[in-house]
Amino acid sequence: MIIAIDGPAGAGKSTVAKAVAKKLGFKCLDTGAMYRAVAWLAVDEGVSLEDDDALGRIARGCTIAFDHVPGDPIPKGISINGHDVTDAIRTTRIDQAVSPVSAAGPVREAMVEQQRRIGHQGDYVIEGRDIGTVVFPEAELKVFLTATDEERAHRRVRQNVDRGVGSISYSEVLADIIRRDEADMNRAHAPLKAADDARIIDSTGTYIEDIIEQICVLAQIAQDGKQAR
Ligand code: DC
Repeated sequence: MIIAIDGPAGAGKSTVAKAVAKKLGFKCLDTGAMYRAVAWLAVDEGVSLEDDDALGRIARGCTIAFDHVPGDPIPKGISINGHDVTDAIRTTRIDQAVSPVSAAGPVREAMVEQQRRIGHQGDYVIEGRDIGTVVFPEAELKVFLTATDEERAHRRVRQNVDRGVGSISYSEVLADIIRRDEADMNRAHAPLKAADDARIIDSTGTYIEDIIEQICVLAQIAQDGKQAR
């Protein structure tokens, strides 16, 4: 079974996806981390972020691996071509580079292929922007998680502080979130939008535990429906 969780930056997708996966005993795939890893490699190799074909070559030729602690289905880190980039993909530099990289059609084709291959290996909660619309349009449950721009910016600031990259101001984070939403929603390939059959959940002012619980209930209903068919 596939649970697709899409939505804009900072809506709480990662927290929710990991918690739902843990509760249901599913594996978890963060597709944003894959685009970030490709962006890291492009920057590292000095590839122009405007050269879609070169970016596509990088995406097709790279090996992305999620690192697991034995017995834990939630990945602890990510590497690309053997480089551990778990922390390196969360910097402001990569926040900026990932928009053009993820907008490149050849990059998306390569990533979607890998994501489908991974998702077909079992029960997965997959988070991203186009999981319910493009990668797994047949997903048994699709959730589109949103929150106001201000709430998402506040959460990102708290996350940055927790990760030790706390020097970016609230207004800079808010501007970056708005800029990235614009880029994600208006790009030609797989723009960010809710699938017609997605459940739209607004997490503004809501306890994250309640959202996790709501998605687990929806998953159970979807599972029961699947078994009854
Ligand atoms: O979820 P995130 O912020 O780590 O995602 C990083 C970037 O990758 C973001 O700009 C949107 C893009 N992305 C995408 O285009 N498609 C996905 N399935 C996941 C992320």
